[in-house]
Amino acid sequence: MRRDRTSGRAAPVPADGATGDPTARSGALFGRRVMLRPLVLSDFEAWREVRLRCHDWLTVWEPSRQPGSPDPTTDRDAFGVRCAARQRERALGTGHGFGVFHDGRLCGEINLNSIQRGPFQNAYVGYWIDQAVAGRGLMPEAVVVLSRFAFEELGLHRLQVSIIPRNQASRRIPEKLGLRDEGVALRYLEINGVWEDHVRYAITSEEWLERRDDLARAWLSP
Ligand SMILES: CC(C)(COP(=O)(O)OP(=O)(O)OC[C@H]1O[C@@H](n2cnc3c(N)ncnc32)[C@H](O)[C@@H]1OP(=O)(O)O)[C@@H](O)C(=O)NCCC(=O)NCCS
Repeated sequence: MRRDRTSGRAAPVPADGATGDPTARSGALFGRRVMLRPLVLSDFEAWREVRLRCHDWLTVWEPSRQPGSPDPTTDRDAFGVRCAARQRERALGTGHGFGVFHDGRLCGEINLNSIQRGPFQNAYVGYWIDQAVAGRGLMPEAVVVLSRFAFEELGLHRLQVSIIPRNQASRRIPEKLGLRDEGVALRYLEINGVWEDHVRYAITSEEWLERRDDLARAWLSP
């Protein structure tokens, strides 16, 4: 697997994130303005503040919470369980979840979900950002940082972003980054209680190799 010395995995995560897992131990991922690192229990207050403030804006685009499951926005223990679940996924190599930080503040999340190895070598990308900093190009930058990690550190072959067709703001991200539109999958994911169609955008490692210098110049270079 090729390791990119410019990928910026350097800064330590807080001590309560130390789990023995290489990503958590060796640090964060850096873009021009964003830093990505796994969330830890001490992020609870910041996470809760942004999730509560942006509740209506975010949850219309998200799967509904399982009935009866504790709410991590109000229950610190539930948030801890969520962090621990992400840590387990990292240790197993089945997922990588990151908080997105800008100017030292938590302002969103971006995740590589359901990593499949074998002949697929695929992951699904999910993201959200604080409405107060939306429209500044922070999430497309985070997607480029995450793509570099996925292709150059994890050695994956394909990433997919799935978006409800009417979510124009989210569709602008793959459009700006030049991900391929693979068409609409009908009734693809349960979002806010409804089986919603999704446009599937994808990029493979061949396309990443062709385009990574342009993407890095546009989104990552100082
Ligand atoms: C989708 C989302 C992550 C985009 O992140 P972002 O950092 O704002 O991305 P960008 O800055 O590139 O803006 C994307 C588009 O949002 C729209 N936008 C611009 N300013 C905005 C603002 N102040 N508030 C909301 N949307 C805005 C524009 O259409 C913009 O496209 P443009 O740059 O071509 O004008 C963010 O809007 C979000 O979290 N939305 C709610 C949850 C969600 O949709 N998650 C994704 C599910 S697939």
